[in-house]
Amino acid sequence: MIINKNELAAARTDFFSESRYDKAAKFYEQAIEAEPNVVTYYWYLGLAYLLQGQEEEAQTTWLLPMYQGTVEEVEKWNEELVKVLDAEATRQASIANLKNSWLIRQHIREIAPSLDNNLLLLMNLSLALGYLTPELMKDRQVTEMLRYRNQIISKGYQFSEDWFSGNVPIWTYYLSRYVNMPEIKALEIGSWEGMSTCYLLDNILTHDTARLTCLDIWSPQPVPAIALDEKDVRYFSTYDRNYFKSVEDRFDANINKTKAQYKVKKMVGLSQNLVRLLPLNYYDFIHIDGSHIASDVLGDAVLAWGCLVVGGIMIFDDYYFTFSTPGLNTKIGIDGFLTAFKHKIKILHEGVQIIIEKMSD
Ligand SMILES: C[S@@+](CC[C@H](N)C(=O)[O-])C[C@H]1O[C@@H](n2cnc3c(N)ncnc32)[C@H](O)[C@@H]1O
Repeated sequence: MIINKNELAAARTDFFSESRYDKAAKFYEQAIEAEPNVVTYYWYLGLAYLLQGQEEEAQTTWLLPMYQGTVEEVEKWNEELVKVLDAEATRQASIANLKNSWLIRQHIREIAPSLDNNLLLLMNLSLALGYLTPELMKDRQVTEMLRYRNQIISKGYQFSEDWFSGNVPIWTYYLSRYVNMPEIKALEIGSWEGMSTCYLLDNILTHDTARLTCLDIWSPQPVPAIALDEKDVRYFSTYDRNYFKSVEDRFDANINKTKAQYKVKKMVGLSQNLVRLLPLNYYDFIHIDGSHIASDVLGDAVLAWGCLVVGGIMIFDDYYFTFSTPGLNTKIGIDGFLTAFKHKIKILHEGVQIIIEKMSD
């Protein structure tokens, strides 16, 4: 059997997307026979077994190459395996197959127990499926998440998207230094409906004198003037002006529900223009979650850097956000900034979000 790239892509997309896991398993069994050293085949073969209910076979398959790897290789392969499983768990959830998504996430949890995001997604799935186990309940992160969910319900916030709650455990940890501190100043670039904003007001910026500047365009962002891949054309036109109006209305309504609206300064417009108007050496922490285009993120970071006090914290969201058009991925912008400012920053956290501390001007 000679494996070519097209066949591989077809096996991944067709067999898995059409739930033909037996066919996927057959394909990868043959692929391994032909090329036993290609470790990715084992990840997909195990996944195909898992989705057919053969959990033990799945685990054995994933372990097979690991026995022969060096410590560094095993570490790298574990990461690869988690990525493969995570992508399938996300896909299964997107087609409302929550049980499969849950099953895969349980296995990710065994491979990478401290992966915050997986744990939180697992908890959300467990809640949706009514599976919340005492073991899961004991988890500190899970209890934080539950507390946060209750907060959303009890305050009556309205959110159409949740792009934030997965960050609650790390925010709770890294921003604890600012809780109820007087005079703390925060800046948020990209507030949408105010999920992260409300979290900050309810949990971190709780002192009467704390202040938060929220900056958002609240209308469709400018589309890069380059030849865009079809998928990205769709991405940039997902929400029209009317929808953004409703997003901004929900932001206003949610902020009012915090009863801390007096702490919030709202600025409407492009971050590229507005951050230039903000005071230098002023903010204790800055959340960058506006445009995800590499050059915009880099621009936000560089401009916001001057506004951050030494010792302050900068949080970048969506480090792994990808576009289909080459050169736009968020990571490119964040990495560019991290590389150039390497000697002036300390990286506190690396994950879906990157959290840094400003060590010097
Ligand atoms: C991912 S959402 C922010 C999510 C929000 N932090 C939350 O917790 O739900 C990104 C936001 O950035 C805004 N945005 C995109 N490009 C922008 C730009 N160039 N300047 C200002 N805001 C921008 C969008 O309008 C959107 O509301």
